[in-house]
Amino acid sequence: MLVLGIESTAHTFGVSVVDANKKKVFSNIMDSFSTEQGGMIPGDVGRHHVGCCQEVIQQALDKAGVKISQIKLISFSQGPGLGNALKVGATAARSLSLIHNIPLVGVNHCIAHLEIGRMLTPAKDPILLYASGANTQVIAFEEGKYRIFGETLDTGIGNFIDTFARYLGLGFPGGPKIEQLAKEGRKNSNFIELPYSIKGMDVAFSGLLTNIRHKISKDMKEGKFTKEDLCYSVQETVFAMLIEVSERAMAHCGKTELVLGGGVACNKRLQKMCDIMCKERSTKSQSCKSFVVENQFNVDNGAMIAWLGYLKFKAEGPQKIEDTAVRPYERTDDVQVAWR
Ligand code: ATP
Ligand code: FE2
Repeated sequence: MLVLGIESTAHTFGVSVVDANKKKVFSNIMDSFSTEQGGMIPGDVGRHHVGCCQEVIQQALDKAGVKISQIKLISFSQGPGLGNALKVGATAARSLSLIHNIPLVGVNHCIAHLEIGRMLTPAKDPILLYASGANTQVIAFEEGKYRIFGETLDTGIGNFIDTFARYLGLGFPGGPKIEQLAKEGRKNSNFIELPYSIKGMDVAFSGLLTNIRHKISKDMKEGKFTKEDLCYSVQETVFAMLIEVSERAMAHCGKTELVLGGGVACNKRLQKMCDIMCKERSTKSQSCKSFVVENQFNVDNGAMIAWLGYLKFKAEGPQKIEDTAVRPYERTDDVQVAWR
């Protein structure tokens, strides 16, 4: 069954053709809004998506070598996300569905990050550490729903890293550049003590950001440490916070698998730390394992939307057009899960 998935919650407009029965991704095309300066202005992101949507959809079909008439289901990200961005994907999905008479479903973006982990890795019932730009959540399936066991109280970890990168005069997105500098810094092992902020099962980054800003303008200027040292220390600190909450969620739910998702999951050091934590949790009778998908499926992508759409469609059938309004503030635990 060929499914077309359309992702447009934030800066990425992504479209993918997936053969759901064979669990094969035929194409996964994306076009991301970027700026040299400043952040994401919702109106600009929406205009970016309008500008590229037709081209990205066409490319996804061409790369997969299929015609729209062969598509049996259209799935789109219904929320959460930026209203301006979500509307473009939803409108494209509705139009294609109506013109070509193809069933339509809208899905939750955060749950899609978890389900693609279950599709592409051996994980069966994992905890998801969803670490992206706007989102930082630890999610698991418990008692019939996906529930959030811990999350950020302020900014998402990716946005935090991007802001930190901006303080250092690096461009957007900052994650890959910080990762590179941190690798250099690691060699010096000059670890700088930083605020470690966990409240219950939740994490917070804004205090740390203020602290770093002071350190950059004072201590770093005075040559007490290098920017490589700082990148290394920041990464170790914030990733340790995420690992601590993930581990506690695993212990609380009695789960033995961890799946990483979101753009920050591309970070090799975070992947390594997840591995270490799972190894340390393993006992003779119970092994724990962490899984990560390819980078193209960690970042926002149409393939995960197509796959979750398929699962939802199989369980519930198509959605009525009048039920396809976007849900910018949809919570993970608002979603009725009929497919598990
Ligand atoms: P969402 O809508 O799910 O919040 P998003 O729009 O933020 O997603 P993603 O592609 O999931 O988009 O994540 C982008 C974030 O990932 C950026 O903040 C970027 O800096 C960060 N990132 C990308 N690569 C790395 C890396 N190697 N290390 C750390 N962070 C990274
Ligand atoms: Fe995402």
